Amino acid sequence: MRMPIVAGNWKMYKTLGEAAAFAQELAPALSALKGAERVICPPFVDIPDVKRVLDGTPIKLGAQNIHWETQGAFTSSISAPMLQGLVEYVIIGHSEVRQYLHETDDMINKKAKAALAYGLSPIIAVGESLDQNQRGETEAFVGQQIRAAFEAIPASDLPRIVVAYEPIWAIGTGLSATGEQANTIIKRAIRGVLATLYGEEKAELVRIQYGGSVKPDNMAEFMGQPEIDGALVGGASLKVDDFVTLTRIAIEAKGSG
Ligand code: PGA
Repeated sequence: MRMPIVAGNWKMYKTLGEAAAFAQELAPALSALKGAERVICPPFVDIPDVKRVLDGTPIKLGAQNIHWETQGAFTSSISAPMLQGLVEYVIIGHSEVRQYLHETDDMINKKAKAALAYGLSPIIAVGESLDQNQRGETEAFVGQQIRAAFEAIPASDLPRIVVAYEPIWAIGTGLSATGEQANTIIKRAIRGVLATLYGEEKAELVRIQYGGSVKPDNMAEFMGQPEIDGALVGGASLKVDDFVTLTRIAIEAKGSG
């Protein structure tokens, strides 16, 4: 069975003091749960402080981006080796980074390889725009994003990779796909494409999250789907009770506790 994984993407929220205080509040309740991997992804500068709070708990840390090079004249960037020892996960390909920082499929592939080379697990985000969705292009587009992201990544790395299916029109909007719609896209355009690339058995090892306006009241619908192994959560990860509830729902739905 794939271990459910619930990850909180804090985006550009929380100053140093706020991040540590929030982690302190979150840690006891979230640590008490068993049966899901729990990851929080704070802004870079908050990571060392949050790590001090979470050390000794089962809660893991992730970053929200990396550069694909290990070092160099890349003003403002952070590399995978700089994050070693600080985080275990890194989100790559988030639609906000694709849109505002002009991240391309090729960069995403290079970043995924850089993460893997330094022992970090990439959470690779993919998803279609509202236009693409309405034109019926979702499957083709997401499938192509997967092919590009996994280019020349060996099958042996698959168990360390997480994919997040996040329809762009559902992020931060309060709109979300139905569980069934998300399950179908994941089955056909993500796990299906991975099966074409690596074979069915290997594709079964990859954990795939849904993301986009995940809340306590819709979490069970997503977690009830066989292809969905967890959630990548923005807004609701900034509320202690909501994030704990989401994790508890994932464990109950998957029977993994
Ligand atoms: P949201 O964000 O839960 O606030 O929609 C999800 C994400 O961007 O990963």
